[in-house]
Amino acid sequence: MDTDVADSLSTQFLDRFGDLPDGVWAAPGRVNLVGEHTDYNGGYALPLALPHRTYAAVRRRDDGLLRVASLQAPHGWEGPVTTVRQGSPDGWAAYVAGVASVLAERAGAAEVGMDVLVDGHVPLGAGLSSSAALSCSAGLALRDLVPQLDGLSEAELVGVCVRAENEVAGAATGGMDQTVSLRAVDEHLLLLDARDRSVVPVAWTLPDHELLVVDTRVHHALGDGQYERRRRTCEEAAAALGVGSLRELDPEVLDRDWERPAGPARVLHGIPDALPRVRHVLTENERVLDLVAALREQDVARVGSLMTASHASLRDDYEVSCPELDLTVEAALGAGAPGARMTGGGFGGSAVVLVARTEVEQVAESVAQAFAREGLDAPAFLHAVPGPPAHRVR
Ligand code: GLA
Repeated sequence: MDTDVADSLSTQFLDRFGDLPDGVWAAPGRVNLVGEHTDYNGGYALPLALPHRTYAAVRRRDDGLLRVASLQAPHGWEGPVTTVRQGSPDGWAAYVAGVASVLAERAGAAEVGMDVLVDGHVPLGAGLSSSAALSCSAGLALRDLVPQLDGLSEAELVGVCVRAENEVAGAATGGMDQTVSLRAVDEHLLLLDARDRSVVPVAWTLPDHELLVVDTRVHHALGDGQYERRRRTCEEAAAALGVGSLRELDPEVLDRDWERPAGPARVLHGIPDALPRVRHVLTENERVLDLVAALREQDVARVGSLMTASHASLRDDYEVSCPELDLTVEAALGAGAPGARMTGGGFGGSAVVLVARTEVEQVAESVAQAFAREGLDAPAFLHAVPGPPAHRVR
């Protein structure tokens, strides 16, 4: 599959740019099993790399020019690396140009020019990190092609891709997506600790169960700006509590001395919504570790109930769900799935459902029927089988 896509993309690259590419790189999208809105709080997450990848055919140039095109977009972008800045280019091209621009600091602008043709196989707008797949495929290509970048580790490249997204694309995201895209371990989930950026592969121990992703195919404009607002509230809360990030808080404060005079609840009172937001982050971090333990014990019911508890916390405390995601979770649970939750940033996008292999079709059918009953467009389904990290295909 990888090589078929790479062959066809190389041919199209030749048609477009008049030469064959130096190579083709692929980087996966992701789905997160649990640990949402924790990465920018120094916390834990448990994503896996999807078998769905974004492919980038790349030919290096020696004049510092970027020419970027995509099979999925009518218009590309062209310009010197030195002109890249926040908002220029905008849209999808920012993720490619942004990476080159950040890497130019290390290698020199003349070294990181390239022609790029992208073929995205990660569903767009589904909350499955097609944008991280894009920046990671381009970043890995430059790392492999530019001698001055030799030795740059995958972990360092994660930082480069996050900066590109934060500083050029203008999205204040936290790093989970780029981490799993570049550092996934095939057939495993990845326990990510955003405090020290360490990763631990976690085996999927439930052979009779699989993860079904439901793409609701909705994106609520209401969500725009909400991600940044959540992040700001968490940062203000951490500052008010005198810690560098919410991760530094002992989760036991929630039951022990949360309400005591000068306790966290009192301190946070003046920051709108800070209380439930902090509660989500602290409980979510615990759910990640509990879920990893439940996987080790092959405790299907516990894995499922932790996923569903995560959804409730995102819906009620963090307020990033939406009716279509709630409907998906309810319908999946109603059809017998042991657990279900929204995944990714929220306000649309996808949910992830834990489901017995023998019941996948029945659960998918129940979710589809629930959407039809509400007059919603049919959702899309995909199987989340943990795949390998970003790599050179040819
Ligand atoms: C988006 C961001 C990630 C992470 C999730 C929420 O996917 O890109 O960094 O914050 O939202 O967990």
